Amino acid sequence: MKEQLKAIGEQADRALEKVQSLSELDQLRVSFLGKKGPLTALLKQMGSLPPEERPTMGQLANQMRQHIEEHIEARLAVLKALEIKKTFEAESVDVTLPGVKLPKGNLHPLNQVLDDMIDIFQSMGFDVVDGPEIETEYYNFEALNIPADHPARDMQDTFYVGDHLVLRSQTSAAQIRTMETRKPPIRVICPGRVFRADEVDATHSPVFHQIEGLVVDKGITMCDLKGCLEQVAREIYGPDAKIKFRPSFFPFTEPSVEVDVSCPECGGHGDSCRICKGTGWIEILGAGMVHPRVLAGCGIDPEEYTGFAFGIGLDRLTTTRYKISDIRLLFENDLRFLTQFDR
Ligand code: DAH
Repeated sequence: MKEQLKAIGEQADRALEKVQSLSELDQLRVSFLGKKGPLTALLKQMGSLPPEERPTMGQLANQMRQHIEEHIEARLAVLKALEIKKTFEAESVDVTLPGVKLPKGNLHPLNQVLDDMIDIFQSMGFDVVDGPEIETEYYNFEALNIPADHPARDMQDTFYVGDHLVLRSQTSAAQIRTMETRKPPIRVICPGRVFRADEVDATHSPVFHQIEGLVVDKGITMCDLKGCLEQVAREIYGPDAKIKFRPSFFPFTEPSVEVDVSCPECGGHGDSCRICKGTGWIEILGAGMVHPRVLAGCGIDPEEYTGFAFGIGLDRLTTTRYKISDIRLLFENDLRFLTQFDR
């Protein structure tokens, strides 16, 4: 019997050495130590031994069981360590590999300049308002003192989309909507798209952008207009920027001016400057004192209140800031162009 026990032990040791996985080890445990295993079978034969030999044999059998159990535990620890190592290897990340770059977008140059303009005007106390792109003739023309026979109303300039409905040809329409809904003091800008039936070329597009400005209060004068625009020009073009008023005409302002800024490229010297074409000045906006008839039409007493208004061409601001030579580039959505303005 002793011999048999020894043989079982050796058999278990050999089998254990070959075990490669946790499930194999489990099977081995059952087959050696389970109810149907050789050790149990041997113990069952103990009854046939003389009584004085039984305690010794029982002790030996228990020692063998313990021996096998200890070996199984030791093998278990080895296999578990191996398993963990394998998992780590399979899941390991090489942190020295280059990362995957996620493509990142950037704001369109028009929106970058617009954001700057909104910052400038908000810091001066202006609110930003919105107006519809499809306007009635009343807001786009009539309320702005543009009579029915004015050439701006011509189908060749303005897109008519229905009976008395147009695609707004100027953000000035927002002035009227603002004065109808707000009481002075009013200080707003209205940025947005405007539409005109222009042939497309390097400086014209049927869709372009304006920023309308309107200030109405008691005692507003042309000096306020000039001070405000001078400040804006300095914010955009730097502390040395100068502005110049030229007399002009707009039906909704009296007097009206066109405003030039000293050329940011040549500093106003002109010479052979490509940007200002040698003049030293660049036209950036139209402006004026709100016509009394426009105020009155919106229920604001022109005897009590005065105001100034201006309309800035956002596309022109953008092309001069970034030295873009063709306005069409702004509308073609060519990523090779647009990604140059990442900031
Ligand atoms: N609406 C004018 C245009 O499209 C620009 C303009 C000029 C707006 C004078 C104004 C203004 O508010 O006072 O050419």
